[in-house]
Amino acid sequence: MYRFDKSPVLEVLAGSRQPIPPVWMMRQAGRYLPEYRDTRERAGSFLKLCLTPELAAEVTLQPIRRFGFDAAIIFADILLVPYALGQALTFVEGEGPRLAPPVDRAELGRLRETADRSVVAPVFDTIRLVRSALEPQVALLGFCGAPWTVATYMVAGCGTPDQAAAKLLAYQDPVTFGQLIDRLVAASADYLVEQLSAGAQAVQIFDTWSGALSPEEFERWCIDPVARIIAEVRGRIPDAKIIGFPRGAGTSLLRYADRVPVDAISLDWMVDRDYARDIQSQRPVQGNLDPHALRAGGDALLRAVDATLDTFSSGPFIFNLGHGILSDTPIAHVEQMLARIRGR
Ligand code: CP3
Repeated sequence: MYRFDKSPVLEVLAGSRQPIPPVWMMRQAGRYLPEYRDTRERAGSFLKLCLTPELAAEVTLQPIRRFGFDAAIIFADILLVPYALGQALTFVEGEGPRLAPPVDRAELGRLRETADRSVVAPVFDTIRLVRSALEPQVALLGFCGAPWTVATYMVAGCGTPDQAAAKLLAYQDPVTFGQLIDRLVAASADYLVEQLSAGAQAVQIFDTWSGALSPEEFERWCIDPVARIIAEVRGRIPDAKIIGFPRGAGTSLLRYADRVPVDAISLDWMVDRDYARDIQSQRPVQGNLDPHALRAGGDALLRAVDATLDTFSSGPFIFNLGHGILSDTPIAHVEQMLARIRGR
């Protein structure tokens, strides 16, 4: 019997193909939306927006109202975990995030052993507010950053996408780096368990910079810590639904799929589609439209949407981008993408 309150996203995560792939976008609440820019201004700062449940709930819901996405992702940031570990966090206009002071062996000693729950508690309130406002068929997703990606920001201290500082620390002082990763594993597992307990129905682990690692380091700093988070979360919530996003993993993706027991793998736009289809034979996948194709619009967008659908829509699949939406993307292009996915 057709149950109208079933969530297509959760169905896919349970392994079942949907006739029309459910769709959401990474960074779907963001600066490309005028209503987001208004609320962001009202909040005063990005951090206040993340930590004021009424405002964070509002921006979480904005893209659902406008586009009818099949999932809402709670509005927060991966850098709230280092903030809760005691590293000062600011978002500088036009420059991205800054974490101070940068973590090294001495600074690690000054951080908290465990995260201060009260710092991230507003996120759990946001989850409760959003869940009560969402239609039952719209899935609510929580998230955290993977330890390696979060560590790249903690060690560099700034938002420049440069993983050099973390890579050097990992090679030169693997004991200190391992302790930082261990602390992030514990804090992230607690954080995800609390999100799931508050009403998130699945969580995504973002490893944005996993592509910077050699295969051996990928095993050690990406696969192993993410697998430990999952074991810890499932130890407490056995049926927890988890999506992994090892961006840029390339040929290490197969090893990730073998060793990390996520319910679905989110694919970037760089992966070879035949290779990715092998991954989909083991596990539901999500992805993988190039955000620049969405930014470009027109025929190029339609061709890119079709290529993704032609490859993946015969199996369990959630349509998404290969990374976050670019802030200068026209809203009309998002509408064009949705019409193509839903109208084919
Ligand atoms: O996807 C969503 O809509 C949920 C909210 C969300 C944000 N950040 C809000 C945000 C999520 C899931 C993230 C994850 C995140 N944050 C990642 C992993 C995924 C990715 O995009 O790679 C990373 C690396 C961060 C760290 C971060 N936060 C950076 C580097 C920046 C500055 C660069 C930028 O894109 O502006 C942020 C800020 C940030 N986080 C914004 C948003 C909407 C923009 C802030 C603003 O100016 O309003």
